[in-house]
Amino acid sequence: MLVLGVESSCDETGVALYDSVHGLLSHALYSQIAMHNAYGGVVPELASRDHIRRILPLTRQVLSESGRTLADLDGIAYTQGPGLAGALLVGAGMARALAYALGIPAVGVHHLEGHMLSPLISDTPPEFPFVALLVSGGHTQLMLVSGVGRYTLLGETLDDAAGEAFDKTAQLLGLGYPGGPALSKLAATGDASRFKLPRPMLNSGDFDFSFSGLKTAVLTLVRKAGLSQAADIAAAFQAAAVAVLVSKSLAACAHSGANRLVVAGGVGANTHLRERLTREAAARGISVFYPRLEFCTDNGAMIAYAGAQRLAYAHNDLTFAVKPRWELATLDAV
Ligand code: KG4
Ligand code: ZN
Repeated sequence: MLVLGVESSCDETGVALYDSVHGLLSHALYSQIAMHNAYGGVVPELASRDHIRRILPLTRQVLSESGRTLADLDGIAYTQGPGLAGALLVGAGMARALAYALGIPAVGVHHLEGHMLSPLISDTPPEFPFVALLVSGGHTQLMLVSGVGRYTLLGETLDDAAGEAFDKTAQLLGLGYPGGPALSKLAATGDASRFKLPRPMLNSGDFDFSFSGLKTAVLTLVRKAGLSQAADIAAAFQAAAVAVLVSKSLAACAHSGANRLVVAGGVGANTHLRERLTREAAARGISVFYPRLEFCTDNGAMIAYAGAQRLAYAHNDLTFAVKPRWELATLDAV
């Protein structure tokens, strides 16, 4: 089955072609980060307009790169939510109209399901069950995954997401938007032991997180130490956030008896998180699976892949709605 995947939930337009026999054939991405950077964050209306500009050229690109035509498609998957309503509607409208014109099914995919299954686009995918640490710009969740659509929420953030904490801390340090990658780069040049920041909820005995207090602690530290100490502050922040993510992920594995851990979402690209998690997990006999670096952040490949899993079971219903808010644990099992 050849599936076109379309991602347009936020500030990246991603399109990809996934074949259930031959795997990922091609993918293309246009990032709007430079455009939103001038405003310090995503401007929803500008995001929607830019998705409109990019979505068809990217679709033509992935088809021509893989030597396929629209007539070869068996189905189309698009991000149905969660995300920005206008941005979601661009992908959903394009995918639904194209599928209708071609007489093939279309399926709406949960953005976080796409992230969570993205490590499966690999020659050595993890088997079910596994624990998934989802760390994106808007979500931080620990899930027990026993199959496609079989998700049990173990814990989540009570306030800011991990990515949001990286972004807000980066902003406090004058690093622009989105700050995660820049903060991580700066942290690599700093001394993480110079300043001690709190590790919120480290010993709370559950799998929930809280990152807003950490952000406030950074603000206090920046006022006290000054921006000349930015590298050491970035390193201290990263060490604190990563310590909590690693500890809770390993505790969730122990709690659920899983010896496989999947890390997905933008913060999964963080080198310090990857190094520490892989080391500490190995010491406990747990294997960690990451998506390819380029598939940690938003992309069309993860939507095409998740869509291919779901399309086999989809009813070709011509109506559609986007879901700007959507709980991952409420999905149907396939
Ligand atoms: O998954 P994603 O692309 O978008 C959402 O679905 O939200 O995640 C974006 C988030 C941003 O907060 C960004 O700062 C963060 O992932 N991020 C990182 C790194 N690369 C991206 N955070 C820490 N270290 C990184 N290397
Ligand atoms: Zn995402």
